[in-house]
Amino acid sequence: MTTVQDRPTIGAIEHASRDEISALQLDRLRWSLQHAYDNVPHYRASFDAVGVHPSDLRDLADLAKFPFTAKADLRANYPYGMFAVPHEKISRIHASSGTTGRPTVVGYTTRDLDHWADLVARSLYAAGVRAGDKVHVAYGYGLFTGGLGAHYGAERLGATVIPMSGGMTDRQVQLIEDFRPDAIMVTPSYMLTLVDAMVAKGIDPAATSLRTGVFGAEPWTEQMRVEIEQQLAIDAVDIYGLSEVMGPGVAMECIETKDGLHIWEDHFYPEIVDPVTGDVLPDGEEGELVFTSLTKEAFPIVRYRTRDLTRLLPGTARTMRRMQKITGRTDDMIILRGVNLFPTQIEELILTIPALAPQFQCVLARPGRMDTLTVRVEARGEATNEDHAAAAASLQKLVKNRIGVTIAVEVLEPTSLERSIGKARRLIDNRPTG
Ligand code: DLL
Repeated sequence: MTTVQDRPTIGAIEHASRDEISALQLDRLRWSLQHAYDNVPHYRASFDAVGVHPSDLRDLADLAKFPFTAKADLRANYPYGMFAVPHEKISRIHASSGTTGRPTVVGYTTRDLDHWADLVARSLYAAGVRAGDKVHVAYGYGLFTGGLGAHYGAERLGATVIPMSGGMTDRQVQLIEDFRPDAIMVTPSYMLTLVDAMVAKGIDPAATSLRTGVFGAEPWTEQMRVEIEQQLAIDAVDIYGLSEVMGPGVAMECIETKDGLHIWEDHFYPEIVDPVTGDVLPDGEEGELVFTSLTKEAFPIVRYRTRDLTRLLPGTARTMRRMQKITGRTDDMIILRGVNLFPTQIEELILTIPALAPQFQCVLARPGRMDTLTVRVEARGEATNEDHAAAAASLQKLVKNRIGVTIAVEVLEPTSLERSIGKARRLIDNRPTG
């Protein structure tokens, strides 16, 4: 039984020296590569195909000799081909639906689940949540890793979990009023939906019991942090993760610095690679985040291409390295007449215009030979047609000046855009295929 004394605080590993962290990583990486090679036919075949063997890993940089793993590899081995332990050792399965094709199926042993709960508890502690706090979990429960991942981590911390899951927005608002949670775990976009519902019910979002918000599962910007913190009078911190690597709690922002997310490097080895060439880039340079698991038994993953774009930075509040807030996914990059842009850049600019609300969608079309981008964004509160036109013109001008492309802007009445109860869909591609 966990006693109060055993409850998570900042663990020694979170302040270990870089040398200690690297030594631990090398040890664990050797184990993990060997485990994958011995037990997953895909890894044996892919290592053999390029002539590398786990014993070729002498230092951490040798990892670059090993082949990448892509989402397509996981799909090709659907459902259980990437599992490294027999079925009777699998305690839980999760799956991520993705936008197309078969879901990606991942599995966990009891030890994997134990590590996951520890890492989410560590993340919540870093967010300022403490044993005895009440945590409202509004990430979806089910095959998605968000709900159950958050849940067991909050329990491990010694918090009281309120397992709401996503949806039933009015009920969520009612229970925030009645149950008085200290912290909420939810996607930032659904948090905004909850705020709208509070306002509609005459509840002041800044007057709830909430003190902390642990937001993730989708990209969100510094400007969005300011927006959420001001509206709710809380601290808003970023949690990152993905099913293929574990779920929420791969990296976490610390409340004392709010300067990007510390990657829990004792369990996950990060690399940044050039998305086109696959070359490993030095810390500080932006590229695609790649992860290798160091301790996972059921579903070891080697050099997984996350498609998330960020850069690695030195540790601050903890000694483990940080990743900058995610700019976007390679799949969400819009290339408009030769200029690359991400929905997060649009979000940043929208939030500088007081008349616009952070509810928006980017719609791509190809009416003739050229692609067009229309940003559909809601006005904040009641406004006239002239106000809408003025706000649209401001956004258009800002995008032209800062990003260098011409876009169309449609300003809509509040609540016109569809609300998500989980991850927001920011990009709608109406271009003809083929
Ligand atoms: O979204 C796990 C999660 C749940 C993380 C709850 C945080 C909170 P997947 O459904 O597999 O897993 O989606 C993973 O979501 O590759 C990123 O593109 C995106 N993502 C997750 N967290 C963040 C974040 C969960 N903090 C994919 N910032 C990842 C930006 C994020 N993007």
